[in-house]
Parts: sequence; structure tokens; C-alpha cells
Amino acid sequence: MKKLVVMMTLAATSGVLMSGTAAAQTPQAFVNTLMPEPAHLTVGSGWLPIGKGFAAATDKFHDQRLDDAIARAMEQLTQETGVVIQEKPAGTRAGLIITVDGPGEAVQGVDENESYSLDVTPQGAHLQAATDVGAMHGLATLEQLVQNSGQGYFLPAVSIQDSPRFVWRGLMIDCSRHFEPISVIERTLDGMAAVKMNVFHWHLTDDQGFRIQSKIFPLLTEDGSDGQFYTQEQAREVVAYARARGIRVVPEFDMPGHSTSWVVGYPDLASAQGPFTIQRHFGVFNPVLDPTRASTYEFLDKFIGEMAQIFPDAYMHIGGDENNGVEWAHNPRIQAFMREHGLKGTAALQAYFNQQLLPILQKHGKKMIGWDEIMTPGLPKDVVVQSWRGFDSLAEGAKEGYTGILSAGYYLDHMDSAADHYRVDPLPAGNTLTPAQAARILGGEACMWGEYVDAENIDSRIWPRTAAIAERLWSPQSVDNVDDMYRRLWVENLRLEALGLTQISQEDASLRALAGTEQIGPLETLAAVLEPVNFDTRGDWSDKHGVTSLMPLDNLVDALPPDPPSRHGFEELVSTYLENPAARPEQQAALTAIFQSWTQDEPERVLLMSESPRLAEALPRARQLTEMGAMGLEGIGYLASGVPAPPGWKAAKLKILDEADEPIALTWFTVAQPMRDLVNEVR
Ligand code: ACM
Repeated sequence: MKKLVVMMTLAATSGVLMSGTAAAQTPQAFVNTLMPEPAHLTVGSGWLPIGKGFAAATDKFHDQRLDDAIARAMEQLTQETGVVIQEKPAGTRAGLIITVDGPGEAVQGVDENESYSLDVTPQGAHLQAATDVGAMHGLATLEQLVQNSGQGYFLPAVSIQDSPRFVWRGLMIDCSRHFEPISVIERTLDGMAAVKMNVFHWHLTDDQGFRIQSKIFPLLTEDGSDGQFYTQEQAREVVAYARARGIRVVPEFDMPGHSTSWVVGYPDLASAQGPFTIQRHFGVFNPVLDPTRASTYEFLDKFIGEMAQIFPDAYMHIGGDENNGVEWAHNPRIQAFMREHGLKGTAALQAYFNQQLLPILQKHGKKMIGWDEIMTPGLPKDVVVQSWRGFDSLAEGAKEGYTGILSAGYYLDHMDSAADHYRVDPLPAGNTLTPAQAARILGGEACMWGEYVDAENIDSRIWPRTAAIAERLWSPQSVDNVDDMYRRLWVENLRLEALGLTQISQEDASLRALAGTEQIGPLETLAAVLEPVNFDTRGDWSDKHGVTSLMPLDNLVDALPPDPPSRHGFEELVSTYLENPAARPEQQAALTAIFQSWTQDEPERVLLMSESPRLAEALPRARQLTEMGAMGLEGIGYLASGVPAPPGWKAAKLKILDEADEPIALTWFTVAQPMRDLVNEVR
């Protein structure tokens, strides 16, 4: 954080802002760039200038957490506006009055009151909330409201009454497959707070690494982490950082499967004979905790007790996913145990395991949350089921009385578009749940699995797409216009970078590193219309090429953001143009400029790429870009003139586009489908 230049005055005040820029010209009109959209927004008339003397003051309750949140917001406003918001001069009245009833829950829970109201008039702004958390959401909205004219910064006169549609709005980060430093976690929490997300689900253990220090069982990290783990002190720091931003931290200790890293140091926990080594590949592996031995539960009792001291949240995530049952099937002692207890199959034994685990969690004051697979008969209904396999399993759980959250459709590692995620609803229209059943669906979580992310590129995989998911989980269901979502998303993207995230800047930094020069213009033109292939395509390739978690993520694909602006932007441009090519001169000019940029600089592009071993494999993309530019210019020519293309033109161009659709260097073009639409429109 930049040094704080804001001094808060917290004496009770009321009233009017004295602005040094009262004469400044106000913006033309309010442009709504709020994300997530508030539940209720009324636009009034006039503007509140943010000028010298603007300050915030609480007039009811305040505590350290609220004071810090206000200070951060004022610092952010200062950065946004360049107006140094100083200590409020005596006798002046604050521009922003903050009325908060109380702190909220000592440990934030799913019932926390997160609502707030924000009223801005030309005379001043008034934020009201029942809790610190609601006030923080209101401050986040305030930061997003700022607009500028050429002469200053202003808040529009608005009246907002806001509260979330879902109480659980989370982001999971897998820090096992690739470790993420604390700095990444903290800047991610800043981003989450900006879009009003309230659960950080921390996937701390998996086959590829055990990432949290245990003082009782030190070999978990000594043998299972390659030295890359969070100390208990660091984990506490993250919990405090999150709480300061209205975010709960739900830790996940994945068991009984996905547990290789546990058994490297403690092979007696395993269901097969050791020794074991940390898993370097990706997928589903055999190591699984032994659910038949009392010693397993004695271990887990101590471990969970230790973790409960670090993570105050009511919930602890036990994973439970993707146990292939192989080790259980091959162990005669475990097979005998299953026969003795009448347990038929892997799921039954895993249900047994969960039933032993549950009282251990309860003893340490925790409720259970796990992936779909934990939903087995006999579990109490207050477990939360996190559905990664689809809405159907979530609905099935809700019908049986389980609370649940949706993650299917919110997998960021799949490289889907923000629009794809945005259309996924935890309570889709037309579902057949009763109101009581629907109420059991608490919300959802975006999931950032760690196979192909590291500290450099994780921001671009999480942001800005997660802001679209955050809106789906916060805003009314009726807020569903994809074009408008993207319009606001690109503004939010800039605001997120201003918080210290790197999702925009990292692309060019990576391209410079790949090309070995600052002169990357020709490469940028190509990179702007490429995106990473989807998870399955990359997974197949990785399996075939023996990719491991130790290999660097420093190829072109790793530099490219998923769903770059070119995807939706180009699609919108082409479809608007094709509505009536003869009467869309603006779109025609824009497309012509784009196609010309693609056809220019091919020799420079080829030279840059062929001299870099890590770019050379993508070389065919340079030629394809030129070809697409040329076909675009020709296509526009035919469409504008009404002259038909020569015989065979269309077929030849579609063939080029088919070739362009093939993955090369794990990249895809973002523009191939609209190009196809354009070519198909030519007579
Ligand atoms: C999961 O994706 N295995 C939860």
C-alpha cells in the first residue's frame, strides 16, 4: 500500500461539502460503470465535486476496522482523482458522512448483514450500513461512482439501496499445484473486496504440495512442499487482511484423495505401502488416506485442532473430490474392513470416512464443506456441498436438505469467456426448486485451479472475468445484458489494475521477455487476437508432453489473457456491421483499420518470432493473421460494392479459417468465428 496521505476525522459531523472546485464544469451525464450492479439505483440530478476539503467522517459507530477501510477508500479516491484528501480543516463539513450501527459479527458468517445505502446529492454523500462489512461494500461502490469532466472529479447524485442476492460469493485459489506468494493472495483479496466478494477459499493441500505449516506434524511441509508453504503467521496475516476487507477465509485440506503430499512425510496415513514422493504431474492419482485405522483419525483430530486455531471461519473444507478408490481396492486389509462393515464400494467407504471426520470437525467448532462427492447418506444437513459437477447435483442436494454453492460453470482454468460464466446462475430460471429448497443455495465460487498459473499470470486468469461472476452472485438475476456487462467490465478492469493487480500489464511484460526487446508492436497486434486454448486441450497436450509442476509457465500461451477484449469486441463490431454493410460506415471504417493492422508488419512479426525459440512455434499464426486481414479487406470490398466474389473465393477463405481454428502453440484465435460470419455474408 502506498503511504497513507489521508487523515480521517471521526467526530460526528453533518452537512455540506465545501469544495474548492465548485465552479468546475461537471460531466455531461452519469455513465454507470458500477460492477456489480446495485440492487436499486436511482439517478438524481447534479454532482458532488471531489475537491480540496472533501473528507469522510463517521457519525455513529466506528472501530479500527471501519477506520482502516475508510482510510483505504479515501486513499484510493486520492489516487483516482489526484485530489489530496487531507485532514478535514476545522469548521468545514465532511463530504461523506458514514453512519454505521455496529461492527457486525465477531467472526463473519453467512448471516452477516452486508447491506448498505448510499445517497449522493450536490450537498454531500451519506453512506449508511448496519455493519462494517456493509459500509465496506458502500465504499467500494463510492469508488466506482467517480466520474470526471475535463475540469475535475465528481460523484453523481444517486440513491442506492443495495444488498447481495447470494450470501456466499467466493473465489477458490489452488496454491498446491503452483504455490502463490502472500503478495498474490493479498492483492487478490483487494480485487475481491472491490467487487464485493466475501469468501476466499484457500485450497492448501493437494497431490503436488502441502502448503500450510503444521507445528504438530512438521514433515507435512518438510517433505511435502519443496519448501514452498505458508507459515502459520502468514496464514493468520491473510485471515486478518481478509477480515479487514469483509472477506471470510475457508481453508481446504483435501482428503481422503488428492493427498499425496500428506503421505510423503507420514506414509502411515496412506492406504498403500510407501515410500511416496510429491506428485509432479496433473490429474487424479492413487494415494488416499486410510479410513480404516484409528491412527488416521487421531492424526486428523490433532491437525484439524491446530488449523482451527488459525482459521476462525465456521466452515472447514475437507475436499472429498476425485478419490479413484484404487488403493482401497488393492489393500486386502481395507477390503476385509469393508466386508466387516458392510461397505460396498469406494463411495460407501468414503461416506464412512466422512462420518468419522464430522465429529472431529464439530469438536473443533467447525462445520463441514466439501465437493459434490461428500453428499452421501448419513451426513447432517448443515454441511455445505460445493458442486463442481453441475447444477443438477446442487439441486439434488437442495431437495435432500443440503445447503450448497455452485462452482460448475465458474472454473476459471477452463479459459471460458466472462460471458459464459455470466450466464451461469446458481438458481437458473426455470428451475424446479421450491422456495425453501432454493433458499439452501447459498451462492457460488469461482475456481482458480493451479495447473497452469503462477505468480506472474494468475491475475490475468482471475481478472477481470471474476468480476462478472461477482456480479452474477451479487446483483439481481435480471441484470443479465452481456454487452453491458462487457462495457462495464473493461472499466472495472482498469480499476482493478489501479489496486495493484497486474492482469493488463503482465501481457506486455511477458511479450517483452519472450521477444527480448521493447519493440513488440508487431507482436502485440497478433497477441491481441489470440487466447489460450481451453483446459482440456492443454491438459491433453501436457499429458502427451510430460508437463510437470516444476516446468516454468513462460510460453506465449501463458502470456495471453483468456477472453481478451478482442473476442467480444470484434464479435460485436462484425455483427453490427453485417446487419447492413451498406449503411454502417463507422463499423466499416473500424473493421478496415483492424484488417489493415493485421496485414501490416508481417515481416517484422516473423523476424521477432523466429528469433525467439519460445515464440517460433507460434510462427504460423503470423501468416494466418495476414491472411485473415487480407480476406477481411476483400470481404468488405465485396460487401460494400455488392460485387460478388469470384467463384471459389468463399471456399478458399473458409478453408483458411478452418486451419486457423487448429490449436498452434496452445493458442486459439479469438476472431475466427466472426471472420467466418463475414466471409459467409459475401455473395
Ligand atoms: C474438482 O474439480 N476436482 C473439485
